[in-house]
Amino acid sequence: GRVGILYGGRSAEREVSLMSGQGVYQALSEAGLDVHLFDTGERPLQDLFSAGFDRVFIVLHGRYGEDGTVQGLLEMMGLPYTGSGPLASSLAMDKIMTKKVWLQAGLPTPAYVALESEAELAGLTQALGLPLIVKPPHEGSTLGLTKVVEAGQLPAAYRLAGRYEPVVLAEQFIRGRELTVPVLGKGAGAHALPIVEIIAPQGNYDYENKYFSDETRYICPAELDEGVAARVRQLAEQAYRALGCEGWGRADFILDEQGQPWLLEMNTSPGMTSHSLVPMSARGAGLSYTELCLAILDGAAC
Ligand code: DAL
Ligand code: MG
Repeated sequence: GRVGILYGGRSAEREVSLMSGQGVYQALSEAGLDVHLFDTGERPLQDLFSAGFDRVFIVLHGRYGEDGTVQGLLEMMGLPYTGSGPLASSLAMDKIMTKKVWLQAGLPTPAYVALESEAELAGLTQALGLPLIVKPPHEGSTLGLTKVVEAGQLPAAYRLAGRYEPVVLAEQFIRGRELTVPVLGKGAGAHALPIVEIIAPQGNYDYENKYFSDETRYICPAELDEGVAARVRQLAEQAYRALGCEGWGRADFILDEQGQPWLLEMNTSPGMTSHSLVPMSARGAGLSYTELCLAILDGAAC
C-alpha cells in the first residue's frame, strides 16, 4: 500500500524534520515501498484525506506533529501511524508534565520550577542552585535553552525561553555524562536499544553541535559499568512505559558523577537525520537505517 511520510511541519524544528523525512523517504524507497512525502507545513491537512495513504510514518518534530495533535487527527481518520498515541505524545512534548508523571512513578528527574512570571526568578537560585537550566517546556533540539551560571543571566534566559511560550521550565543542572537510549515496542514488550554517549565540544550539545558539527563525538555502546548500563536501560524502558509511549522513542539522560542516571526528557518522534542518535544506536544493535525504518513502520497502528 501507499505509505505517507509526514514531515516538515510548522514547529521550530521544521528544518530538522525536513532532514529526518528525507532520510526515511530514501530508505523506504530503496526498500521498494510506495512512499510519498507529505509536508504538513506546506500542504493543507485536508489533503491527507484524499492522499490515499494506507499508513503514515510520522517524522515531524515538535509542535503540531510530535505533540499528539496530528496523532489525534489520524486516530479520527482511522489511518495507522507510527509512534505514540495522542496522550503519550502530548505528555512527552511537555517537559513539565513529563516530570510529574516520572516523579509519580518514582523515576529520577532533576528538581524543577515552572515559572509563570519574571517575578518568580527571585528565589530560583535558592531552590535549584547554580548552574541551572532555563528552557521552554515544549521545544526540542535545545531551542530557547540557556545554561545559567550566574544569577545575573536569569532575566535574559527567562525572556529567551519566553519567546517560545508563556510558562518556562527552570531545572537543576546536573553535571555529568550525556546519554541517550532509544526504546522500541509497546507496553511489556518495550525494549531499550544500545546506549549512546554524546561528547560535545566544550560539553555544549546545542543545536549547531547536534546537527552540523563534526566535532561532536558519539560512543555506542557507551562505555559504562555493566550495572550502570543495565540501570540506564531499565530506566529508559520504565520512563517510556510510564508515559504510555508506543512504537519508538528516545530517552535522554545525564549520568552524574556519582553514577546516578537522571532522566531529562522523552522524545516520541526523535531525529532521523544522518547525525541522529536512534539510527546510531540501532546500528549498534545490528539494525541498518533501512531496517530500523521498516521496524518502526511495522509498528504503525491506530
Ligand atoms: N528533538 C530532536 C529531533 C530529537 O530529539 O532528536
Ligand atoms: Mg527533545
